[in-house]
Amino acid sequence: MSTVNSIALPFVTASMLDVERIRKDFPLLSTLVNGHPLVYLDNAATSQKPQVVIDALSDYYQEYNSNIHRGVHYLSQKATDAYEESRLRIQKFLNAERPQEIIFVRGTTEAINLVAQTLGRTSVGPGDEILVTALEHHANIVPWQMVCEEKRAVLKVVPMNDEGELDLNEFQRLLNTRTKIVAITHVSNALGTINPVNQMTQLAHRHGIPVLIDGAQAVPHMRVDVQELDCDFYAFSGHKMFGPTGIGVLYGKRKRLESMPPYQGGGDMIKSVSFEKTVYNDLPYKFEAGTPNIAGGIALGVAVDYLNGMDIHAIQSHEHDLLEYATEKCAAVPGVRIVGRAKDKASVVSFVMDHVHPHDIGTILDADGIAIRTGHHCAQPIMTRLGIPATARASFAFYNTQDEVDVLVRGLHKVNEVFGV
Ligand SMILES: Cc1ncc(COP(=O)(O)O)c(C=O)c1O
Repeated sequence: MSTVNSIALPFVTASMLDVERIRKDFPLLSTLVNGHPLVYLDNAATSQKPQVVIDALSDYYQEYNSNIHRGVHYLSQKATDAYEESRLRIQKFLNAERPQEIIFVRGTTEAINLVAQTLGRTSVGPGDEILVTALEHHANIVPWQMVCEEKRAVLKVVPMNDEGELDLNEFQRLLNTRTKIVAITHVSNALGTINPVNQMTQLAHRHGIPVLIDGAQAVPHMRVDVQELDCDFYAFSGHKMFGPTGIGVLYGKRKRLESMPPYQGGGDMIKSVSFEKTVYNDLPYKFEAGTPNIAGGIALGVAVDYLNGMDIHAIQSHEHDLLEYATEKCAAVPGVRIVGRAKDKASVVSFVMDHVHPHDIGTILDADGIAIRTGHHCAQPIMTRLGIPATARASFAFYNTQDEVDVLVRGLHKVNEVFGV
């Protein structure tokens, strides 16, 4: 049995990734699509999973499936230990001060909704403001709009320039005594922009405003230290960082979490219940009502171990090379225009092509086994700001190669041929 204590870690050299070796850890990367080797460039939507993560899921169901936290029997204790051990791994991964600050949720969307429905609903009143940025995913817009609607508050937006970079002067100008929450994305899923969340958090804190960071697109690409960031909340999804779907994390500072009401009511989030009065459980369980995604939580810990086994500098350098190479090669294809040219970018290349709708680009590439994403990427306000309905987006992970970029570029030439350009 490959328990969570004995997983194989990917081989890395001092500063270079052995990408071919790493690819062998991901079974789906060697599949064929439409008779072609899969070129998977849709990592911002979800990443592929290493075998150790897949094994952790099936090991749980095959070998110790049991409900956690309430059983005295062997299986329940084993599952509880594995689940709680995973929480500790995630605590270390984020450098959170305490395991109680790690709340398991379904994903980034649920994490943000949790904060909106608890802190948001209790601290925001009529005329107050919630500050987001022009670069947000819908998951970091709509939950705040819902709070604003209910509380008659106002959603304010930090604008961006044509390159996809936030206007920090405007951010500072927008912070005021009415601002109750700042909610910002660490990395834009649509354009790849890396925001200066450290600086933004400091600025917001000067006004005593709590900051939530949407880290969905950051954790697969960089080490995140929540104490260094000093953010009040940090949200991410397991499935974008080589873990399973249906599991994610909300980090929250203990003091903040303690002062917030529970999100959902039910089992596990209580100490005692009577019809007259319920006493809520301590952190983190206060925010974890009901039977959680046990297998997912355990396997997320394995994904964290997998990432920890790699040299983050080697990952960043490899992904940076891929970004530069892909940007240059794609931009050289006639009719292609890169969308989002921020100075600080993660490995996301969004683009449009003259006379070709992004959906057609995606369909033609798919015929050759190339998986990219097309559409508004759940970030419609970005598209509106840039005056385009959609983009095609190639997003890279550490297991992607320059050869795959070459296949993509050949595919884009083929798109031009099909459209007679
Ligand atoms: C920046 C960002 N935030 C939030 C989300 C929502 O994540 P999930 O659907 O896993 O909850 C995504 C997903 O694409 C994202 O890219």
